[in-house]
Amino acid sequence: MCGIIGYVGEKKAVPIILEGLKQLEYRGYDSAGIGIVHKPRSKKGAEDKNKIFVLKRKGRVANLSGLLKNKHFPNGLAIGHTRWATHGEPSSGNAHPHQDCSGRIAVVHNGIIENYQELKKELEKEGYQFKSRTDSEVIPNLISKFYKEGDLKKAVAKAIKKLKGAYALGIICSEQPEKLFAVRNDSPLIIGLGKGENFIASDASAILKHTKRVIYLGDKQIAVLEKGNVNIFDLEDKQVSQKIDILSGDISKAQKRGFKDFMLKEIYEQPAILSKILSQWVSSDGNIRFKHLGLNDNFLKGIKQIIIVACGTAFHAGLVGKYVIESLTRIPVWVDVASEFRYRKPIIKEETLIIAISQSGETADTLSAVREAKKNKGRVICICNVLGSSLTRESEGVIYTYAGPEISVASTKAYTAQLMTIYLFALYLASLKGKISGEEFKKGVSSLQKVAAMQNKILSQNKEIKKIARRHLHFGAFLYLGRGVNFPTALEGALKLKELSYIPAEGYAAGEMKHGPIALIDEYRAVVCIINSSPVYSKMLSNIQEIIARKGKIIAIANKGDEQIQNYLKEVIFIPKIEPLFSPLLTIIPLQLLAYYVAILKKYDVDKPRNLAKSVTVE
Ligand code: G6P
Repeated sequence: MCGIIGYVGEKKAVPIILEGLKQLEYRGYDSAGIGIVHKPRSKKGAEDKNKIFVLKRKGRVANLSGLLKNKHFPNGLAIGHTRWATHGEPSSGNAHPHQDCSGRIAVVHNGIIENYQELKKELEKEGYQFKSRTDSEVIPNLISKFYKEGDLKKAVAKAIKKLKGAYALGIICSEQPEKLFAVRNDSPLIIGLGKGENFIASDASAILKHTKRVIYLGDKQIAVLEKGNVNIFDLEDKQVSQKIDILSGDISKAQKRGFKDFMLKEIYEQPAILSKILSQWVSSDGNIRFKHLGLNDNFLKGIKQIIIVACGTAFHAGLVGKYVIESLTRIPVWVDVASEFRYRKPIIKEETLIIAISQSGETADTLSAVREAKKNKGRVICICNVLGSSLTRESEGVIYTYAGPEISVASTKAYTAQLMTIYLFALYLASLKGKISGEEFKKGVSSLQKVAAMQNKILSQNKEIKKIARRHLHFGAFLYLGRGVNFPTALEGALKLKELSYIPAEGYAAGEMKHGPIALIDEYRAVVCIINSSPVYSKMLSNIQEIIARKGKIIAIANKGDEQIQNYLKEVIFIPKIEPLFSPLLTIIPLQLLAYYVAILKKYDVDKPRNLAKSVTVE
């Protein structure tokens, strides 16, 4: 977690760092800080030595901007950080940058130093003093210990050899006022190449405005950036060749465009995104073609099992994927939370395909899962939103979701984009393996093509959904129930509500209700039931009757024209009817809106819910 940025160049560094931090705030926003190399003027006007000025504030980047308002720093060398606390509570003291005892070196860190306690003890014995409760503070002190020899690059290399864990670091030193140092291991770090200026950042969004020419720094490589050049070295001080990539994308896309917040804008973008995905992968002859799949048809035809790994909302998309892929291709699918897969010695056979799903492509657990799979000779493709992200670079093949930048921490459009991509992949694989007829394939694609218009119809019921949200604001807990392919929808609906409004919410397969959750039901419990037309409709209806019998307050998601449900319930959100297998693309929309309005009515920040971060880059 956390976002880091650094600048060296001819311009004033401070505004560039602050602007970049705003873009990175989705990675954490409990505190922010900046470290600037600056030569203060002494009272008599004579120039003094360079110093590092560190300013940090608890809370959002806006607080840090306030702190810098009337301060003048003309220099072109600085590093910045926006934090999501791992070690040490959110506070100004624990915010980055951290400095060594002498104050000569400052470091911003994204990641976790796993052996920091051991290193801290050693350094304390040698007289180093620590001010914060973070793991990160050992880094500047360790560098400082080796810096006694005078060469910062060498000192960084020596320090790196002692560190265990994940890190992306930006480092400045008052005695090297023209240089910005960077190094990474497992945590993402990108170098931006400008004219008379160079940048480092956790991801491209922070520097896209300034340059599209980037270098993805390799693990344990040290970059030395000056305004006119960038050199990269390995830990043995050998220069490493640089591969320059050109980024595509436009930062102007990440604007609210008249919406009150990013989340609502992203919810409303869904129909257009799904149409875009279809036009991207379905060619004019009606066939599905993926550009960067990276696997040949022979391998695809021979797949005997699929393992999907993902976290959070992407995991829920994976669960839908299990139902869809198994139903269409008859290939068994296992879905694993990436952090579990990583450590459970997974069984990967030659004919196993691993699909990693991730919006950001930077989630540490998903990346670790992919590395673990590759170690076991697994063939990996990913479904990912961010072009050029670590996951896309580490997978054999990629299917991009083309959802555009998702800024709101709670994922909405990335989820339905992942679902759409999975449907297309399942249809493609099923047809390749001859498991569905040409007619069935066409019917599937045509159903998907109807989804966007249907989503628009649901979105137009926003006022009704807001009223339902208002009537249920006060409930202390919610239960979400769904069956079959909408069991993951129940999980995702509950996740949205708890993320945004901090109301305890649980998602359950409705068939499991009698095995525990029913004990929770009384007049104080709101129960959201997904009862679209499907082979399990009557089972779901029985569940609903059981809840009514126990006075639970039900909100149902049902299909338009379902008269039966109206006999039982007052609070029903009607959605258009589609083949049950494709219904998760619709059933989730009212649940996103419901969670959104509950949070808005409770006056919470929907784009940046407490304690969360958009991209979880630590394990
Ligand atoms: C965080 C975000 C979620 C996201 C999950 C996985 O928890 O808040 O919205 O679903 O990470 O992220 P990824 O980028 O891998 O999809």
